[in-house]
Amino acid sequence: MAIKLSNRIQLIKPSPTLAISNKATEMKNAGLDVVNFGVGEPDFNTPDYIKQAAHKAIDDNFTRYTANAGIPELRKAICAKLERDNGLKYEPKQILVSPGAKASILDVLMAVCDAHDQVIIPVPYWVSYPYQVKLAEADPVYLTTYQEDGFRVKADALDKCIKENPTAKVLILNSPSNPTGTVYTKKELEEIAEVCLKHDILVISDEIYERLVYDDSKHYSIAAVSPEMQEHTVIVNGVSKAYAMTGWRLGYAAGPANIISYAGRMQEHATSCVNSITQKACVVALNDEDASIEEMRQEFDKRRNFLYTELVKNPHLSCFKPEGAFYIFPNISWYIKNNNMGIRNTDEFCSQLLERHHVALVSGGAFGTEGFVRFSYANSMENLTKGAQRFAAFLQELREAK
Ligand SMILES: Cc1ncc(COP(=O)(O)O)c(C=O)c1O
Repeated sequence: MAIKLSNRIQLIKPSPTLAISNKATEMKNAGLDVVNFGVGEPDFNTPDYIKQAAHKAIDDNFTRYTANAGIPELRKAICAKLERDNGLKYEPKQILVSPGAKASILDVLMAVCDAHDQVIIPVPYWVSYPYQVKLAEADPVYLTTYQEDGFRVKADALDKCIKENPTAKVLILNSPSNPTGTVYTKKELEEIAEVCLKHDILVISDEIYERLVYDDSKHYSIAAVSPEMQEHTVIVNGVSKAYAMTGWRLGYAAGPANIISYAGRMQEHATSCVNSITQKACVVALNDEDASIEEMRQEFDKRRNFLYTELVKNPHLSCFKPEGAFYIFPNISWYIKNNNMGIRNTDEFCSQLLERHHVALVSGGAFGTEGFVRFSYANSMENLTKGAQRFAAFLQELREAK
């Protein structure tokens, strides 16, 4: 007799970003020249100064369980970082170190949500938020944002959304954003904070792309709006993106001691501490940063400018110029509505592009937004050039198909 799966797990679908990557890898393994824009991770190696710290931790036999919430020197290094970069004071007991920012978000949701509490998720969203909310047995409430507003949550729309959803308790805010590259200004965050304070909403502020901002954009944490807002915010951040450490698995949450302590209980019985060697390496990553981190940012910036310029050359395509992170999210809805190749939706657009031109993108549907596709420009200039040409050739085919 087959064991019936839980209702909870049946709400969870496989990650769409991984699905497209797997298909692209399959094609690559079959010998095809695929350009994969699907992956959300830096293509750089972890900087040497960080790797050396990890070697040292192994040589020093720093290989046992650590404190569940993270080794004291790492929690101190995170407090120092929050003060240095964000002007925020935290004590180590307000920091939970987790195996990735992804885990931090789930721990916090588990600590604050009861069944059917509502969690507001701006759309387009990062793929994992809705599933994490459902795992916590809470209900996602989707708040649409628009390309013409730079995909920004507007304070009045948020206010209306909260009034319409009386059990709303949490807002998940992501700046710089995946998939749009939106970076909120201080003023916009002040306006959002005012609404959250009025309605007593907790903000989970996902700042994992903090270091990757371009042109005049500056990263600002909503927690820095006021001491009261700091009490209504859990900052989530980590080392995956800025330090090219995706496989090391370390993120953290910083927030009110009570929430952090209970999120830590969740972690204690789910995964326990982060790998001890990674923790030692991260102390050095944060405290002794060298020039390699800024060099990676500058390289991403170059690629962003290149890809944006190439994409907007295509007729009938419009695009918000990303201000941060390493994604670009063009609007291809004209091509869905006006093609004679039988493409009816964005998923079909992406699978035709992959099959015919060997370019992997993630369909906007994965982020809750039809008519858009996501490119990750964490890829070599050579691949960006090749991929942009193939993409343009596909659009031309769609325009010309009779
Ligand atoms: C918006 C956002 N938050 C969190 C994460 C997870 O980061 P981590 O590798 O620290 O789990 C990602 C990774 O893709 C992301 O894009």
